[in-house]
Amino acid sequence: MILNTVWVLLAFSTFLPLSNAEELINRKRVVKAFNPQHFTGLDYWTHGRLVNYEIQNPAEANISNWLVNNPQRINLGTIGFWFKNSAINESTLSQKIQILDLWTGQISSSFALNGSNVNVTTWCDPDSDTLAIQVHSSLLSAGELGIFFDYPYPDISKFDSPSVGVFNAVAKHDTKLSRKDGAAVIQHNIDNTTYFNSITWKGDGQVIGPLPDTHRYILGFANGVTQTQLTAKFSASLMVGGRDYSSIANASMKWWESYWQDGAFIDLTGSSSSKAKELQRRTILSQYLLAINEAPSNNSPQESGLTNNGWYGKFHLEMTLWHLLHWGRWNRWTMLWRSIPKMYDLFLPSSYQRARRQGYDGARWGKMSDPTGRSTPGDINALLIWQQPHPMYFAELEYRSFPNTTTLRKWNTIIEASADFMASYAFYNHSTKVYDLGPPMYLVSENTNENATINPAFEIAYWRFGLDVAITWKERLNEKVPTSWTTVRDNLAPLPTVDSAFAVYEGIPDMWSNNTTVEDHPAITGIYGLLPPPRSGPALNMTCVRNTAEKVRRLWNWDNLYGWDWPLLAMNQLRLGNVNQAVEYLLDPAFSFDDAGYPESNRVPTPYFPGASAFMLAMAMMAGGWVDEVGPHFPEEWIVKVEGFSPGL
Ligand SMILES: *[C@@H]1O[C@H](CO)[C@@H](O)[C@H](O)[C@H]1NC(C)=O
Ligand SMILES: *[C@@H]1O[C@H](CO)[C@@H](O)[C@H](O)[C@H]1NC(C)=O
Ligand SMILES: *[C@@H]1O[C@H](CO)[C@@H](O)[C@H](O)[C@H]1NC(C)=O
Ligand SMILES: *[C@@H]1O[C@H](CO)[C@@H](O)[C@H](O)[C@H]1NC(C)=O
Ligand SMILES: *[C@@H]1O[C@H](CO)[C@@H](O)[C@H](O)[C@H]1NC(C)=O
Ligand SMILES: *[C@@H]1O[C@H](CO)[C@@H](O)[C@H](O)[C@H]1NC(C)=O
Ligand SMILES: *[C@@H]1O[C@H](CO)[C@@H](O)[C@H](O)[C@H]1NC(C)=O
Ligand SMILES: *[C@@H]1O[C@H](CO)[C@@H](O)[C@H](O)[C@H]1NC(C)=O
Ligand SMILES: *[C@@H]1O[C@H](CO)[C@@H](O)[C@H](O)[C@H]1NC(C)=O
Ligand SMILES: *[C@@H]1O[C@H](CO)[C@@H](O)[C@H](O)[C@H]1NC(C)=O
Ligand SMILES: *[C@@H]1O[C@H](CO)[C@@H](O)[C@H](O)[C@H]1NC(C)=O
Ligand SMILES: *[C@@H]1O[C@H](CO)[C@@H](O)[C@H](O)[C@H]1NC(C)=O
Repeated sequence: MILNTVWVLLAFSTFLPLSNAEELINRKRVVKAFNPQHFTGLDYWTHGRLVNYEIQNPAEANISNWLVNNPQRINLGTIGFWFKNSAINESTLSQKIQILDLWTGQISSSFALNGSNVNVTTWCDPDSDTLAIQVHSSLLSAGELGIFFDYPYPDISKFDSPSVGVFNAVAKHDTKLSRKDGAAVIQHNIDNTTYFNSITWKGDGQVIGPLPDTHRYILGFANGVTQTQLTAKFSASLMVGGRDYSSIANASMKWWESYWQDGAFIDLTGSSSSKAKELQRRTILSQYLLAINEAPSNNSPQESGLTNNGWYGKFHLEMTLWHLLHWGRWNRWTMLWRSIPKMYDLFLPSSYQRARRQGYDGARWGKMSDPTGRSTPGDINALLIWQQPHPMYFAELEYRSFPNTTTLRKWNTIIEASADFMASYAFYNHSTKVYDLGPPMYLVSENTNENATINPAFEIAYWRFGLDVAITWKERLNEKVPTSWTTVRDNLAPLPTVDSAFAVYEGIPDMWSNNTTVEDHPAITGIYGLLPPPRSGPALNMTCVRNTAEKVRRLWNWDNLYGWDWPLLAMNQLRLGNVNQAVEYLLDPAFSFDDAGYPESNRVPTPYFPGASAFMLAMAMMAGGWVDEVGPHFPEEWIVKVEGFSPGL
């Protein structure tokens, strides 16, 4: 027997996130090996005092490692075709066709084996973690062709791609089959994590297994059976019953139709330009893939969504904005509201604690996180700061669309906690008489010496933006504005410049003359790309803004850019009025999307979804404008129709 996972695995890995499988995945497996309370981290000198950070301590390497590896995201299962004739493999099959219908969510696949057709239709229930599969084939008869179900052991690699899980660590976990006419339940136990896969089918068949030395089960059929409809449901507790094949097909059609009918849209099909065609292709396919991979409940998406595991399957709070903000601008608020601001509410207690332990007020948001809000040990994880004002961005964007007290109240505590930390983190420098950010800190590009990094241009601009929003928020609510917020905002260190352009941080050696400073994420273009012009303090110096965009274009190291960098550069060019340059950035050959629309990366396994979600944010800016500038802003000769975008910042 040979695994032929192509068809059903694809459906599994791409469809599941629509409902609450992620709850199950995120339950994750915890092996009781260490007590996280025993992790002590490291103390770093911070403005004359020792502050404790969640950084690996060489004296406690084992627990640090364990905290990096745990908890683990689980691949719940793999479903595919099993052939009785073990000589058959994928290349034995002919006439392989697969069609995904974006409008209904239906995947139709067919292939021929030795002149016999096998036809498969796959759906996913939008309201439960259930796949519905229909197979037509004379090979089903007498067990020539069956359907397998396989359950892996979790993986602890930093990147698990293309598939996730270990299929040959059979002794480390355990599965149990129970049967009842026309149905089977497979229970999977991994340490103390248990979940169930309930399988139902039509036609005379049964599930057997596991096959020797595997956790693989086979659904086979009796003589004369040439078609079946089956459902496979994953759940954390045993749940029999539920929708049948045709109800799931109907529910999928309904869900996808309303998804495509709702929200904003960009139609570039009237333009003959090949650039317009490619942007259209990416825009459509990204809407589909992001709905599946990038709209979880509670937590932020992980960088590769539900397709595989990246960075140990943990998610990153500084990336939350790129992952999710586009939902708001594309007027798909319900997708955003699945996790925002819920995630911040959930992480508030641990973030208050983090700040308090370090001697600051308010809540310090972590970076690389697990679903409980616990930080993964690491120097960058502990010292990055640009995730801190993200709640203000989300909140302000929402307020532009929903200027009501529900919005104000919903965000008030989160904004207050974020701003309290921001004000108390900024350090008053008695010699320069300004408030400094860092050291120690990591800035957006994570590539400078943390003990030398002070007043990074983007972070200074973002601190001002965040405090401006926080102050306005309190004014809108008629509540008192804490004086610490205004004092810090009004006395922030100025944006550092070198050669009449923004510098990555104040005092960076050889900015613009040494190629090691012009590397990685070009966050200085976000000052007038991601962020709107400042509401307080001196106006941005537009000579510096333009020089920065131009120097980055000429001098930056293009080989090391990835993901959201191109959309960021494009957003900066849009605000500067250079639409054609923005399009060039979005279509840069190094910023590629594969034939199925997955965003590729030269640095990590595909997909790297922040590329797609940031792309959608840049497209929303082109179509829907920003601040008081309403769109659309496309190349002049293009014929463009847009509708439904929410106002931007
Ligand atoms: C598994 O065990 C760990 C540690 O004992 C515990 O924290 C966790 O809640 C347990 N998980 C489940 C799903 O029971
Ligand atoms: C930064 O300073 C801390 C001590 O405060 C030290 O442990 C760490 O190694 C330093 N980092 C670098 C890159 O020198
Ligand atoms: C850390 O783990 C290694 C490998 O399992 C083990 O040999 C070593 O004794 C452990 N160290 C401590 C301090 O527990
Ligand atoms: C598949 O089977 C064919 C015929 O048995 C064989 O020639 C080929 O090497 C096999 N391919 C793989 C990838 O195993
Ligand atoms: C194809 O069919 C022929 C005739 O029925 C049979 O002899 C042969 O074994 C089949 N090949 C495969 C790969 O099933
Ligand atoms: C199976 O698929 C093939 C190719 O798409 C198609 O020609 C045929 O009509 C399908 N058969 C059934 C029973 O659906
Ligand atoms: C699915 O939709 C079709 C067409 O609207 C309808 O005839 C059928 O009864 C529905 N099936 C179920 C189970 O809801
Ligand atoms: C107020 O804003 C919320 C979003 O925060 C929205 O769901 C609600 O419909 C708005 N209420 C009114 C009355 O507009
Ligand atoms: C005050 O600012 C200057 C210039 O940025 C810097 O060199 C100095 O280290 C700062 N002082 C303190 C105490 O951080
Ligand atoms: C803006 O920056 C340029 C270049 O550094 C400088 O010449 C100019 O005076 C600045 N303008 C203002 C208003 O500060
Ligand atoms: C560039 O900067 C790096 C890192 O600070 C340094 O090691 C290198 O010597 C510099 N190169 C030149 C040509 O100045
Ligand atoms: C940076 O400059 C050094 C010295 O001129 C050169 O050897 C190196 O290849 C350059 N690196 C990049 C990434 O351009």
